[in-house]
Amino acid sequence: MVKLFVTDRQGREIEVDARRGLSVMENIRDLPASVEAICGGMCACATCHVLIDPAWAARLPPRSYEEHMMLHDLASFDPARSRLSCQIVVSEALAGLSLTVGPEEY
Ligand code: FES
Repeated sequence: MVKLFVTDRQGREIEVDARRGLSVMENIRDLPASVEAICGGMCACATCHVLIDPAWAARLPPRSYEEHMMLHDLASFDPARSRLSCQIVVSEALAGLSLTVGPEEY
């Protein structure tokens, strides 16, 4: 298990024991007030938008072109912090990752 720190849409800070090999989205979507992930992780909906803590943002692998295009049209898009949580695979290297669930846009 890998510890993630998630702030949900109600502003609650939740510690998540995430499973390695699954995406961040798969590990957080069942929390209350979390991502919807309507497309199920196909990089096709952007309802799994999260804002990565600035201290962590540069430590993640860069966005793919497809991920960037999905995020770019969101009103809450933050070039420095926005990610699709379905495109980030949990590994030991993410222990302590801190993120905030993106606001509802749909
Ligand atoms: S779950 Fe749809 S883009 Fe991530």
